[in-house]
Amino acid sequence: MAHLCMYIKWFILTQFLLTLVLRTGAKVPAIIVFGDSSVDAGNNNQIPTIARSNFEPYGRDFSGRKATGRFSNGRIATDFVSEAFGLKPTIPAYLDPAYNIADFATGVTFASAGTGYDNATSNVLSVIPIWKELVYYEDYQKRLRAYLGETKANQVISDALYMISMGTNDFLENYYTFPAGRQSQFTVTQYEDFLIGIAGNFIKELYGLGARKISLGGLPPMGCLPLERATNIAGGNQCLESYNNVALEFNGKLKMLATTLNKDLPGLKLVFSNPYYIFTYLIRKPATYGFDVTSMGCCATGMFEMGYSCNRNNLLTCTNADKYVFWDAFHPTQKTNSIISNYLVKTALAGFL
Ligand SMILES: *[C@@H]1O[C@H](CO)[C@@H](O)[C@H](O)[C@H]1NC(C)=O
Repeated sequence: MAHLCMYIKWFILTQFLLTLVLRTGAKVPAIIVFGDSSVDAGNNNQIPTIARSNFEPYGRDFSGRKATGRFSNGRIATDFVSEAFGLKPTIPAYLDPAYNIADFATGVTFASAGTGYDNATSNVLSVIPIWKELVYYEDYQKRLRAYLGETKANQVISDALYMISMGTNDFLENYYTFPAGRQSQFTVTQYEDFLIGIAGNFIKELYGLGARKISLGGLPPMGCLPLERATNIAGGNQCLESYNNVALEFNGKLKMLATTLNKDLPGLKLVFSNPYYIFTYLIRKPATYGFDVTSMGCCATGMFEMGYSCNRNNLLTCTNADKYVFWDAFHPTQKTNSIISNYLVKTALAGFL
């Protein structure tokens, strides 16, 4: 009898929780992405830049072995998030002429490889600056309204999950690369704050355009990217801890920004999606996930190559990318992307499911 009683209580409780989840979790009808190569699905194919990956061996584990412009051997993190939310398994690039507004209505990426929060970062490789990603998004809203009608489009706009993923290039491609540029104007701490200011304004503009559910992505342990290790000769090719520390500090500031904006902007649900610790775990304990190699990428020597230098003529490229945390000198493999996005879906993004 006591058992039955407990069972009934348990049953009522789970039913209650289930209803609660169904009620509060107004389903996400679309995932809308802004950022850099971590989330670009081919926008750069349509602009004049060398930051490209629409050739072999990129995409060799993608559906149809297609080199879409994703900087990986297969899918990227946002593709896995989309699938986990019951949406399509890949998120198309807004500038890709193979897709139209019917496709974009359930998910789209405005991201551009090589970009960052800072305009000076997007200038380095002539890619799409963050302000222009937002201009494309405004154009998307117009097309969505024409396609779905005002009411339905507004619903999609306010219920969609917005994902922002950038910042690594601001430090690695820009700040630390050009001593006469941002480095001569800002200490690294000041530069972090400069970027946080831009990120904050970007989120406010998105909010002004109707976005309510937003994921702000943190930096990975960027001192452990193969390129940074390869150039850390004095440090025995170990992870560059000074860069990792900057990533940690910057992530702390992103998290604080999320707290502040959630207080200031009514109805906003902004979460900080932190890949740092899970990423570090993969690098420190690779065997747990069946990885063999963490210090080098799969493509070519694995130390320097990315974009055009990672090409199909290189005989050194590994045969099984699932054994590698990194695909090229700067970007994770599909398997790493899958592990990190699964983790984020269970943590920061769980409230949106
Ligand atoms: C970046 O450039 C755009 C276009 O020129 C400008 O509107 C914006 O204010 C710039 N952002 C910063 C932070 O300087």
